[in-house]
Amino acid sequence: MCGIVGYIGNRQAAPILLDGLSKLEYRGYDSAGIAVHSVDKINMVKSKGRLKVLEELTHNGSTLNGTVGIGHTRWATHGSPSDQNAHPHFNKNNSIVIVHNGIIENYLKLKKKLEKKGYEFISETDTEVIVHLLDYYYSGNPLQAVTKIMHRMEGSYALGIIFSDHPNELYAVRKDSPLIVGKTEGGNVVASDVPAVLKYTRNVYFVENEEIVRMTRDEMEFFTVDEEPIEKTSVEIEWDINAAEKGGYEHFMLKEMYEQPKAITDTFSPRLKGQDIVIEELNMSDQDIKSIEKIMIVACGSAYHAGVTSKYVFEGLAKIPVEVDLASEFRYRNPLLREGTLVIVISQSGETADTLAALREAKELGSRVLGIVNVVGSSIAREADNVMYTWAGPEIAVATTKAYSAQLIALYLLAMKFACVRGELTDHELAAMVEDLKALPAQVEMLLNNKNKIQRFANRYLAAKDVFFIGRGIDYAISLEGSLKLKEISYIHSEAYAAGELKHGTISLIEEGTLVASVLTQKQLYKKMISNMVEVRTRGAFVLAVTNEGNVEVERAADYVIYIPETNKYFANSLAIIPLQLFGYYIAIGRGCDVDKPRNLAKSVTVE
Ligand code: G6P
Repeated sequence: MCGIVGYIGNRQAAPILLDGLSKLEYRGYDSAGIAVHSVDKINMVKSKGRLKVLEELTHNGSTLNGTVGIGHTRWATHGSPSDQNAHPHFNKNNSIVIVHNGIIENYLKLKKKLEKKGYEFISETDTEVIVHLLDYYYSGNPLQAVTKIMHRMEGSYALGIIFSDHPNELYAVRKDSPLIVGKTEGGNVVASDVPAVLKYTRNVYFVENEEIVRMTRDEMEFFTVDEEPIEKTSVEIEWDINAAEKGGYEHFMLKEMYEQPKAITDTFSPRLKGQDIVIEELNMSDQDIKSIEKIMIVACGSAYHAGVTSKYVFEGLAKIPVEVDLASEFRYRNPLLREGTLVIVISQSGETADTLAALREAKELGSRVLGIVNVVGSSIAREADNVMYTWAGPEIAVATTKAYSAQLIALYLLAMKFACVRGELTDHELAAMVEDLKALPAQVEMLLNNKNKIQRFANRYLAAKDVFFIGRGIDYAISLEGSLKLKEISYIHSEAYAAGELKHGTISLIEEGTLVASVLTQKQLYKKMISNMVEVRTRGAFVLAVTNEGNVEVERAADYVIYIPETNKYFANSLAIIPLQLFGYYIAIGRGCDVDKPRNLAKSVTVE
């Protein structure tokens, strides 16, 4: 995590750095800092807290003069959030300064060696090792020093570096942490992600692993770790710049929830050709699809929850066995991937460290990997054998909503496609499903417009200590996501349980007034769910139910019911999640939480 930026050009660097950092705060926001080269020295300002603290300290950058600089917004890994641990970090005589995103895994070993050579450390970060190591190897040739430290460091890094005796150069290097660079009018920029530079250029270069960039005001050169020059071509970014602004909404999360109908439509419409599903980017022949014996889905967080939902859809529709795993588990468990296993990795950012590592592991084991990714050109998108994009547009709020909804759609489409090719879905059944799919955006919109009702209900639970979410089958998968939405932004403890499992221990936590949110969208499971709801209600729980219109029987077992419109049973998640997202959002607002930037979290988790 953490976001880095850098600028070298004809304009004042500090305001550009601050602006870039404001677009990267989703990557971490516990401290921030900038360093700018001015005349014959490097000036630095950094501080614990949000970027606005740094903006105030520097009067929006006006107190730092100079046209070459680097900046950082931090999500602490080594060392608590503090002024001292904030980046940038200097070498001993303030002649080299760096910002870093990633983790240096062998930093303790390196630190010991450097201490023996007389280097003193003033922060608790792994990053400080890098700048002292650079100092150790530096003898007037920056490129050479950078390549030397690359041979010594283990772990991940994206770095921005300035050497005060090379004031007309800015260096950047990457290994396993994202980095892009772009040429602008009268200067060059470097950043962890595209939104930070979009204001200045739409043509960016994706820096690959172990590539080094040397930038001057007018030029940009790329090198390998052996100092060999590399030719690279730029990629044009097509994002709408306004998509990353709040556009009148109080929070990005609310705006993004409201963008769900569009994200859903944009994800399915290019893949519907008449009544057929055409996913060109799959690049799989019918024979390839028929020979899939198993699907292995790997992801983190909400993307994992989308994967859990899709297990029911793939198995139910296409009759293909599916295993779903958390990327952080998958990568270290020596997974058994046999020929005939299709690995699907799901990621909004396309940069999640564990998911990326899982992808590499699967490829190494000889599997074909399909990425379902939102960020165009991200590492996962580039490294997967095939990529199916979710067209949700830039998502800023840390808690995902529209990207998750778009992931569900991509997975439904895949499952439907596989089912058709494998002869498990008739044309008639497919046509009915396509109609239901097309109806989803308007249905989601209608549920969003019901937000006042959810807000009133949420206001009654602002003081809740524990909330349980229960469901069976797909409804369990919905519960997982509903529970995560609530806890990550409101800080109320919540757990999702497969409803039948509750009585194997957890039911002992139910007390008078405990809120139990029950999801019942699967008709064949209504009765079982109602029994579970009655079990908790008789023990004092207050039962909220999210169920299909017409299931009035549920009112016997629930204290409060939210109805969702009728849809195909496999698509229920796309509707039932909407009131649960709104519930989490309004509870968090009512409790005065910063919904877009919850404590301790970051949107793009680029460390494992
Ligand atoms: C973080 C985000 C989640 C996201 C997860 C996986 O925890 O806060 O919203 O689901 O990472 O991220 P990815 O970018 O791989 O989907």
